Amino acid sequence: MQRCVLFVGGGLETLPGLELAKAMGLAVAVSDGNPAAPGLALADHPLVASTYDPAATVTAARALAGRRPIDGVLCLAVDVPHTVAAVAEALGLPGIGAQAARLAMDKLAMKARLAARGLPVPFFAPVPDVPALLAIVARRGRDLVLKPVDSRGARGVQRLARLDDLGAAFAEALRHSPTGRVMVEQFLGGPQLSTESLVVEGVAVTPGFSDRNYEYLDRFAPFIIENGGELPTRLPPDTVAAVADLVDRAARALGIGRGVVKGDIVIHQGEPFVIELAARLSGGYFCSHEIPRSTGVDLLGAAIRQCLGEAVPAAELAPRLARGVAQRWLFADPGVVTAVEGLAAARAVPGVFHLELRAGPGDVVAPINCHPARLGVVMAEADTREGAVAAAEAAVATIAVKTRPLGPAGAPHG
Ligand SMILES: Nc1ncnc2c1ncn2[C@@H]1O[C@H](COP(=O)(O)OP(=O)(O)OP(=O)(O)O)[C@@H](O)[C@H]1O
Ligand SMILES: [Mg+2]
Repeated sequence: MQRCVLFVGGGLETLPGLELAKAMGLAVAVSDGNPAAPGLALADHPLVASTYDPAATVTAARALAGRRPIDGVLCLAVDVPHTVAAVAEALGLPGIGAQAARLAMDKLAMKARLAARGLPVPFFAPVPDVPALLAIVARRGRDLVLKPVDSRGARGVQRLARLDDLGAAFAEALRHSPTGRVMVEQFLGGPQLSTESLVVEGVAVTPGFSDRNYEYLDRFAPFIIENGGELPTRLPPDTVAAVADLVDRAARALGIGRGVVKGDIVIHQGEPFVIELAARLSGGYFCSHEIPRSTGVDLLGAAIRQCLGEAVPAAELAPRLARGVAQRWLFADPGVVTAVEGLAAARAVPGVFHLELRAGPGDVVAPINCHPARLGVVMAEADTREGAVAAAEAAVATIAVKTRPLGPAGAPHG
């Protein structure tokens, strides 16, 4: 019988994983709490269960496993390692275990563990309430980041140096924490890097290094909104090696002995620091499009095979190319979309291989405060990083998403 892989989560950015798994000859099961999730429509075995509800997902997976075997489970572009670990444990499949998954989803517990193991992380502290926040600011100044302990997509993540009302900032962070917990960190200036690794034979091997673009720190302050990134990294080889080593040590410290780790790393005053390590395949098409096109490494395919119990040789993850790949997101002024122009011309820019717009006429564009609120994405490739960046930026420049402002009550002006 065809082997079957279960993806927990079936959102838009998961689709390339489902397509690849099918192309690998696998049967594909998808679980998602949203019956309209596009991944469910693509699945051989759609399971309606919230990705954030391990018990419901285990129940649905068990029901499927009663009809046909499930051989592996993973998640892509959705940060639910606890649900993946629960299914793996219930069905006796390879997984990272509940303990590592818990650390990977709790930014406070993760930083405490990394710090306890002597790994470089920014100063961090829990913030139980507004008076506690005021006390920390009095002691350490305002160059801090306030964030929910357990959210994702940069929801509620704010730079305190860029805002006035600390009470409102606390409330904004709090409302995004399912467990009602907020924390603060030192803001570390310096180049930001996305990494993606597969842990094989106990070592995190890292083919994916992307320089993240934060040109809009001012435009979207106090929120920290990434505008894509580019490969290969412009960091020197010794820094890249130090980052790869740090990711490996961080994965060990968290007890992640297999599977994928997606790193958010800052090079602060020349030294790499861990912002966080997620135990999932990346969103934003990093694992599915950017890494393979830039390096020739099929990280996504390797991760799928590993979750099925196959051994992946580390040599398979060694980059064979160093092509330029660049990604830029699309933004618009808040309001109601009245027109979209330039998509065909943007698609025709040489090197552009992906263009996706997630809003159209009549849709409301809210002020941007997290990554899922970005309007769309362009990706381009070229022989060099500079060529890819130029192509992606040329494509973005040809696209106009026109909006008209909303009235004070949120209703469109007549
Ligand atoms: N202490 C810090 N110093 C510098 N930059 C930071 C810090 N904390 C967060 N950031 C920036 O903000 C981004 C979002 O923060 P964080 O990763 O904690 O939130 P998240 O909700 O997990 O976001 P995502 O899902 O996009 O990773 C980070 O990837 C990093 O670029
Ligand atoms: Mg993060």
